[in-house]
Amino acid sequence: MRHHWLFLGACGWVLLILVFVTKFISHRAVDEYEERDGGQIPTVSGNTTGKFQTLTGGKPDSQKPDQQRDQSSAATTMSEWDSIVETRLQLLLAVCKNSSLRNLTHIPISKFVLDRIFVCDKHNILFCQTPKVGNTQWKKVLIALNGAFSGVEEIPENLVHDHEKNGLPRLSSLTPQEITHRLKTYFKFFIVRDPFERLISAFNDKFIKNPRFEPWYRHDIAPIIIRKYRRSHRDSDLRASGLHFEDFVRYLGDVEGRRRLDRQFGEHVIHWMTYAELCAPCDIHYDVIGHHETLERDAAHILRRAGIEGLVSYPAIPPGITRYNKTKIERHFSGISKRDIRRLYARYQGDFHLFGYPTPDFLLN
Ligand SMILES: *[C@@H]1O[C@H](CO)[C@@H](O)[C@H](O)[C@H]1NC(C)=O
Ligand SMILES: *[C@@H]1O[C@H](CO)[C@@H](O)[C@H](O)[C@H]1NC(C)=O
Ligand SMILES: *[C@@H]1O[C@H](CO)[C@@H](O)[C@H](O)[C@H]1NC(C)=O
Ligand SMILES: *[C@@H]1O[C@H](CO)[C@@H](O)[C@H](O)[C@H]1NC(C)=O
Repeated sequence: MRHHWLFLGACGWVLLILVFVTKFISHRAVDEYEERDGGQIPTVSGNTTGKFQTLTGGKPDSQKPDQQRDQSSAATTMSEWDSIVETRLQLLLAVCKNSSLRNLTHIPISKFVLDRIFVCDKHNILFCQTPKVGNTQWKKVLIALNGAFSGVEEIPENLVHDHEKNGLPRLSSLTPQEITHRLKTYFKFFIVRDPFERLISAFNDKFIKNPRFEPWYRHDIAPIIIRKYRRSHRDSDLRASGLHFEDFVRYLGDVEGRRRLDRQFGEHVIHWMTYAELCAPCDIHYDVIGHHETLERDAAHILRRAGIEGLVSYPAIPPGITRYNKTKIERHFSGISKRDIRRLYARYQGDFHLFGYPTPDFLLN
């Protein structure tokens, strides 16, 4: 009889643990595609082409780009995408030359920037990390390509962001000569999305949903922002309700007041710093700047241009996930004063111009 109860008790525990683990895994999976409202989990549905298949035994040398271009219909769409990517780079160059945007676009290639760039020496690739734009997937691809793991599936989650151990070094860890050589000769890319949508994503991910269990955003950073930027302190309960998007917007748009706080917040600010500050695109000549809104096309393009398309494929992207959602933006900014939104835009307009995102007039006027 006693054994019966012990057995039942053990089953209960196993069940509890299973429930917890499943919940954890589904959170991770959501995080892979960064924040989104539906909370859908990307499904793979047994399609091995769609799955994150890495290192399937294809030899790098057998994948000559020229052979790929011969495939008729693919060839037309590819060259069409080549010209879209080229147009983006031309726009970037033009905006980099605009002197009135100079201090928003020209960023010295500091250690901070070199810390953002990851090195795949085996395939001569540099990848600049821009959080909230699907970077985890790219990091996994590069970790697998670097050879420390035989496939993307084998990379433990906690290792993806542990750059001491995952075989994906930061550019800053190399000598100045090694850095210069790689910046000159390697294939370089990063991904952007609509700057305001990214801020909303960072806000929801770090202060509302917090899927990676990072308590410092809500417990350390949020109270400091609230203390300085919340309009009304009358109601002490307000503080308990957590950071509001309005507080966040006021903090981000406050050029002077932000400096001291950002030093205090350390590396965590990478989630809302501008793309220009993270990757210095006017001072480093990137080969491709992918757009999250067209991720499927851009991922294919990047894999091809980097010469790794035979080795790895980007996972199937659930339809609609990466689409720009104006309603979501309007909803987040509703009730926030025009003055605060305009200050925010002033701070982020370099990113809007550099990467060809239209000015969000519907919020500013
Ligand atoms: C598998 O995924 C690939 C790439 O996403 C797609 O082209 C193909 O049609 C899919 N096949 C099936 C059977 O779903
Ligand atoms: C430079 O940027 C400013 C601010 O967006 C804009 O008003 C101006 O037209 C730009 N100048 C050129 C030459 O593009
Ligand atoms: C850009 O420079 C101008 C003048 O040098 C300064 O007033 C402004 O605050 C700077 N903007 C930023 C975002 O640093
Ligand atoms: C856009 O965002 C709104 C509000 O967050 C949401 O209700 C809607 O489903 C989203 N639309 C799409 C197409 O994802």
